[in-house]
Amino acid sequence: MAQHVYTKDALLLKADNICLKYGDKQILSDVNFEIHNIQRPNMSQGQVVSLIGRSGVGKTQLFKILAGLIKPTSGTVTIDEDQHVVRPGEVGIIPQNYILFNHRTIYQNLKIGLDFSGQKVSDEQEKSIIEDYASKFGLSEHLKKYPMQLSGGQRQRVSIIQQVLTGNKFILLDEPFSGLDILMVDKVIDLLIQVSTINEFNTLIIVSHDIENALALSDTAYILANKEGVAGATVTETIDLIQLGFAWDRDIRQSAHFQELVAQIKFKI
Ligand SMILES: Nc1ncnc2c1ncn2[C@@H]1O[C@H](COP(=O)(O)OP(=O)(O)OP(=O)(O)O)[C@@H](O)[C@H]1O
Ligand SMILES: [Mg+2]
Repeated sequence: MAQHVYTKDALLLKADNICLKYGDKQILSDVNFEIHNIQRPNMSQGQVVSLIGRSGVGKTQLFKILAGLIKPTSGTVTIDEDQHVVRPGEVGIIPQNYILFNHRTIYQNLKIGLDFSGQKVSDEQEKSIIEDYASKFGLSEHLKKYPMQLSGGQRQRVSIIQQVLTGNKFILLDEPFSGLDILMVDKVIDLLIQVSTINEFNTLIIVSHDIENALALSDTAYILANKEGVAGATVTETIDLIQLGFAWDRDIRQSAHFQELVAQIKFKI
């Protein structure tokens, strides 16, 4: 198992005692976790964190809270150096049913991401940035097409790149592996690894019930589950995949030790 040299420094995001209630139904209870900047010598290593839990446990609600889209009943999500409360639009989101603008081409959809970043670029620079990303991520031949002319997996990749182009360092993904075949899952994993190493501050937060694929990508995973005697889901376990020697290894799913961990977690969610 690979042991890596790394440090964890500045606090990037903090979920502090998040509780969510709908009426008298408690959905989330005291969810706490922190994401710190990981640094590796001579590498621009971003962060990949997973929140793993069974269907219906409250992952999508937590996703919306982390993105600033809904307010928790109590608790806060704070980000960046000054640890201010997250505002909508500060975190890139790829929702469970991600949407593209269907009446615009893939090129125009990517341009929306770039426009959002507020970067002042000439038409020529814009073209070169978008074509660069498209080529890096295997979408060059699709730029003139409309979303409906792409497969679900291709549309999802466009959606991920659109968020990367916004310049948001935090990118939240809700169930990024669902509805994809095995080959497409591998492509998404490759894409997300690339995104997480483009910039050392890039931070992906994956919300998923797909234990194997979520763990394979992550440096840290939090299990979201119900504790006996507690109403609402909370973080029941933290898995440090770096310490376990499972992080940053493209082929980790082939490791028997890794698969043992996956099997253990199945009983915990
Ligand atoms: N607006 C709402 N009002 C009341 N209850 C809600 C509302 N939205 C969601 N819920 C409830 O919150 C709980 C958690 O839902 P959530 O969508 O977060 O689950 P999930 O973990 O994302 O599930 P899945 O893996 O199937 O996507 C569910 O019991 C759901 O019925
Ligand atoms: Mg969900």
